[in-house]
Amino acid sequence: MASRTINNIALVGAGGNMGALVLKNLLKSSLKYNITIVSRLDSKSIFPEDPSITIKAGSYDSDSFLASAFSGTDAVVLALHFEAIPDMAIRLIKAAAAAGVKWIFPPEFGSDTGNEVMINVAPIHSLKVGIRNAIEELAKDHQGLKWVGVVTNPWLDWSLQKGMYEIDIPNRKATLLSGGTAKFNTTNLSTAALSIVRLLALPITSSSGPSLSDYGNRLVYISSFRTSQREILDSVQRVTGTSDSDWTITNRDAQEYIEEGAAKIANGDIWGMANVLYGSVMKGDMGGDYESAWGLSNTALGLPKEDLDESVRAALQDTSSRASSNVA
Ligand SMILES: NC(=O)c1ccc[n+]([C@@H]2O[C@H](COP(=O)([O-])OP(=O)(O)OC[C@H]3O[C@@H](n4cnc5c(N)ncnc54)[C@H](OP(=O)(O)O)[C@@H]3O)[C@@H](O)[C@H]2O)c1
Repeated sequence: MASRTINNIALVGAGGNMGALVLKNLLKSSLKYNITIVSRLDSKSIFPEDPSITIKAGSYDSDSFLASAFSGTDAVVLALHFEAIPDMAIRLIKAAAAAGVKWIFPPEFGSDTGNEVMINVAPIHSLKVGIRNAIEELAKDHQGLKWVGVVTNPWLDWSLQKGMYEIDIPNRKATLLSGGTAKFNTTNLSTAALSIVRLLALPITSSSGPSLSDYGNRLVYISSFRTSQREILDSVQRVTGTSDSDWTITNRDAQEYIEEGAAKIANGDIWGMANVLYGSVMKGDMGGDYESAWGLSNTALGLPKEDLDESVRAALQDTSSRASSNVA
């Protein structure tokens, strides 16, 4: 027997990288949701028109706006830009709790913030833990309030398009960290978004299968691939019809790479964060391979099996179609 499901969903950040794909998947779902897009007054985001969508744009400093934005909502997905972490996220969560929301998807969607090494390596990770702790504190006064945190590691397609993972495809340059053979998990952005929609589709409780309550106050680990930097580069080479001789490939010590990022951050250069986040995932002994540590929820959520070369090809095609549409 399964209990009722989530019907009314508020999505914050619905025009962003993650939020836009969550919205797309919600609209495609056979379950008919009432979707409230909550957005800042000065937002530049453009949202699709659909009868199931209500857009509520207003000041996040206004208690009455937030109370009306979250009124009647079962679940809130916070697909928020990193600058909103933690203060704005916590403000939104407090308002959601006061409005009676029971399920919060906090802005996780990255590295394993259940791993002490990962938590300590980057300030953003401890801020994310702080958000989860704030929800549990609020639950003392708001019975039944729970969080569900989705762990994905760096998004593969998004990262390749941005030249992250130290693989610069247009310039055919790669920097392998400590040989690039350490295994880690990585998830396509579309799969990460789909996992949230699969979680939202679960019954609240069930005696015959997975339910949302199984994931209450827990991190949910999903992954498209358990792979290595060298395997991703091999795939990029297969897809682009190139080989090592076409690339400039250098090697760097992973620890030194992370420390360089930390030093940049200490000097006020936020871009050092990329070294810290990607380096800690790729180093091999810091929690990047969470599949081996905790297992995955891919099967329970019915996520599709994916092919590395197809994912790389799709990421590169998406980049080139966006580049040509920019030119037009
Ligand atoms: N795993 C990865 O590779 C990876 C990469 C990037 C991000 N992430 C994580 O994924 C989550 C979502 O990131 P994202 O890249 O999808 O976000 P994003 O596209 O940068 O921003 C999402 C939305 O946040 C809102 N926003 C922007 N600045 C804000 C501010 N100062 N205060 C409040 N709201 C603001 C905007 O919505 P409105 O304009 O509608 O208000 C924006 O569309 C975060 O938890 C982030 O840590 C993971």
